[in-house]
Amino acid sequence: MTATSASTYSKGLVGVIAAQTALSSVDGVNGVLTYRGYNIHDLAERTLYEEIVHLLFYGRLPNAAELAAFQTELAANRKVPAPVMEHIYAAPRKAAPMDMLRSAVSMLSYYDKETEDISLEATRRKGLRLVAQFPTIVAAIYRARKRKAPVAPRPKLNHAENFLYMMYGEKQSQLENEAMNLYLVLLADHSLNASTFTARVAASTNADLHAAVTAALGSLKGNLHGGAAEATMNMLLEIGTIDKVDEFVDRAFATKRKIMGIGHRIYKTGDPRARHLLEWASRLEEAQGKGQRYVDMALSVERAVLRHRELYPNVDFFSAPLLYYLGIPTELDTCIFATSRIAGWTAHVIEQYQDATLIRPGAEYIGPKSEVFVPLAQRP
Ligand SMILES: CC(C)(COP(=O)(O)OP(=O)(O)OC[C@H]1O[C@@H](n2cnc3c(N)ncnc32)[C@H](O)[C@@H]1OP(=O)(O)O)[C@@H](O)C(=O)NCCC(=O)NCCS
Repeated sequence: MTATSASTYSKGLVGVIAAQTALSSVDGVNGVLTYRGYNIHDLAERTLYEEIVHLLFYGRLPNAAELAAFQTELAANRKVPAPVMEHIYAAPRKAAPMDMLRSAVSMLSYYDKETEDISLEATRRKGLRLVAQFPTIVAAIYRARKRKAPVAPRPKLNHAENFLYMMYGEKQSQLENEAMNLYLVLLADHSLNASTFTARVAASTNADLHAAVTAALGSLKGNLHGGAAEATMNMLLEIGTIDKVDEFVDRAFATKRKIMGIGHRIYKTGDPRARHLLEWASRLEEAQGKGQRYVDMALSVERAVLRHRELYPNVDFFSAPLLYYLGIPTELDTCIFATSRIAGWTAHVIEQYQDATLIRPGAEYIGPKSEVFVPLAQRP
């Protein structure tokens, strides 16, 4: 590694290329997202989440036999050690689901026989276990908060079907299962977003996968990142009825309050994932046929925002009603995001190990200089 001289400060690392990746590419100008070269529009609605995990982990889409074997392996790893489940059920009533998930994942490191092994093969195996275990943990968090016993996974169900089954205790409709699968496919990876960067920074020190994922979960929690879907749904619930949208948005801009689920660091002409989420949130809303029309309300928010400035919905905007219509309490939205993104985090951690370079940027010092030291006894 060549030493470089001090370079220009970039607030928020805007415009800085801090890693090379072969996993996903984000073209913010044209609104294009690819996973390993496949356009997200070709993958959405035509693949299972398990295929995407395989693509990210092994570099190619599986054939039918490989997919079946991969699904069997995932299904065999869904169980979570008893002490982790007990910990979830012992959490205080007010514990935030993301804090419960982060603690549970950190705890998993005690029980994984390969925790310290950061070789490619071991990290893939651990990643596979985490992909399989996340739905079990998140479903348990959902049920623990409702004081309901956990539901054991069913190996015959695919990843999305089994996830909803473990949450609600019964198999959900095809529409709901497909909507959950689509959501998981769309959020599996997204270049160097904040939580993935966090995971890579941790991995760059040779920290193990559980450590890197625990760090990433901390980063995902904030409402400028993964927390935005929950914040969006809470905003829609706060607006209440569609006739209040314009007034709400006008006031938000007048008071410099951000509209959640809107805007993006990279996408400046729209997020390609949003249209799929909108479509499936609408389908779920139609199928349920009752109550407040949150998709219409969201579209109305989108139009109202555009009257103020050119900002478009991001992935979280329509995820909010989609997850709402899947019956997921808003405070669990970020955990569902993590249940998908665990695939991308693992694949990036593997890339980072292969890159084998410590990520350690510099900082521009702006504090006082040449202070004169005064011994304790003489300080005023
Ligand atoms: C995602 C986000 C953090 C991107 O931030 P960024 O790349 O730093 O963009 P900026 O904050 O510099 O935005 C540029 C301008 O648009 C405004 N803006 C950006 N997002 C906005 C929003 N959601 N509502 C209102 N104004 C917004 C900013 O205030 C800024 O205004 P200024 O030029 O007058 O200072 C930002 O759009 C945001 O906070 N969105 C809401 C949270 C969200 O949905 N997060 C999920 C992201 S996937």
